[in-house]
Amino acid sequence: MANSNRANFESRIGVILASAGSAVGLGNIWRFPYETGQHGGAAFILIYLFCIILLGMPVMISEFLIGRRSRANTAGAYQILAPGTPWRWVGFLGVLTGFLILSYYSVVAGWTLEFVMEAGVNGFAGKTPADFAAAFAEFSKDPFRPLIWLACFLLITHFVVVRGVKKGIEKSAKMMMPMLFILVLVLAGCSISLPGAQAGLNFLLKPDFSKVTADVILGAMGQAFYSLSLGMGCLCTYASYFSKDTNLARTAFNVGAIDTLIAVLAGLIIFPAAFSVGIQPDTGPALIFITLPNVFQQAFHNLPVLSYIFSLMFYVLLALAALTSTISMHEVVTAYLHEEFRLTRKKAAAFVTGGCFVLGVCCSLSLGVWSGFTVGGLTLFDLFDFVTAKIMLPFGGMLICLFVGWYLDRKLVYSEVSNDGSLKVKFFKAYIFLIRYIAPVAIALIFLKEMGNL
Ligand code: PHE
Repeated sequence: MANSNRANFESRIGVILASAGSAVGLGNIWRFPYETGQHGGAAFILIYLFCIILLGMPVMISEFLIGRRSRANTAGAYQILAPGTPWRWVGFLGVLTGFLILSYYSVVAGWTLEFVMEAGVNGFAGKTPADFAAAFAEFSKDPFRPLIWLACFLLITHFVVVRGVKKGIEKSAKMMMPMLFILVLVLAGCSISLPGAQAGLNFLLKPDFSKVTADVILGAMGQAFYSLSLGMGCLCTYASYFSKDTNLARTAFNVGAIDTLIAVLAGLIIFPAAFSVGIQPDTGPALIFITLPNVFQQAFHNLPVLSYIFSLMFYVLLALAALTSTISMHEVVTAYLHEEFRLTRKKAAAFVTGGCFVLGVCCSLSLGVWSGFTVGGLTLFDLFDFVTAKIMLPFGGMLICLFVGWYLDRKLVYSEVSNDGSLKVKFFKAYIFLIRYIAPVAIALIFLKEMGNL
């Protein structure tokens, strides 16, 4: 039964910042700029915006309503809303996806700490582009250092989650999100004012539609789901802590807007700075760990203090963004173990942290000493990324649409979205149409495309 004594977020702003914290992460600052860079800039961003509005928003509202209606962890939610049906597997899939993503995401998150430290001791000064590439290769292949950072990152996440919904998740989001926002604004301002930044702005803001191919559209869709944390019950779990009068549609809109704003601002940090020193922005995933430290050095070569401050702020920003996301993934699994197996929150969290550490160690080592061990040509790290982000998330997202669009009673859906009729929902028909037809088909397309890449 729905449990009315459950923890709740305390304030409306807490709800928005915690959910936005889940959404804003490495996906915005690491993945979005290189996807944009590889897919031709402004045209990609426009299509991405359409995907956020037409697909992201309806799926997010659906996750919200499943969570808030059931007031349970994501696996429990389906058992409450659809008892005795195979829909419960959608919940289990979400928990498993969360656990797997957390394991490899924390490896990359750990790297951000190494870079914060390196920037802090002014370790980037005087290095050449070749030095940065060699240093990163050496670091990511090292059998110890990344593991220590992985452990640190998981432990920080652990302690926030153990403190609970109000004192841990909500409070940390209220502290970290404003900091993150200020850092992004200052960095974007600095980057735009660099000489020669205009080329980067043009790249980001002037669409060239001749570059749009099916690949670009599908890339934008995939990025929208990943960036909004959709498809694995993260936002569903958070919504189970929303109060009865949280406006689900408005919250979804705010979270989507913040997430998009931060992604575009991250682009405004990276592209003007890269163009200003003549570096092309399409270097892919290595962009922020190899190309950027070099960009920061060159961009402010006559003012080393600025390169120092800029680099340090950037990697602190990255670490904060990653942390608010790892907290949300950890919470999905912790809430599941806590509620379904009646473990204390502390014990549940300890299992999650320990399990993720073991898997994370394997992922990390697969980039170095264990790189000979591959599955279908992929190292363990790449396999985790591929299977979760490209298969499990879209598949989960599609099932969520089908569940709300076709299985749940329309009256129940309406009563959740309208807070029992107290809100006017003019867009309800459009929402149902998107969730029944458009979103599942679009997601199926992303999914098929990714499978074609196998
Ligand atoms: N949205 C997060 C990011 O942009 C990643 C994420 C995906 C988090 C899925 C939770 C669930 O980094």
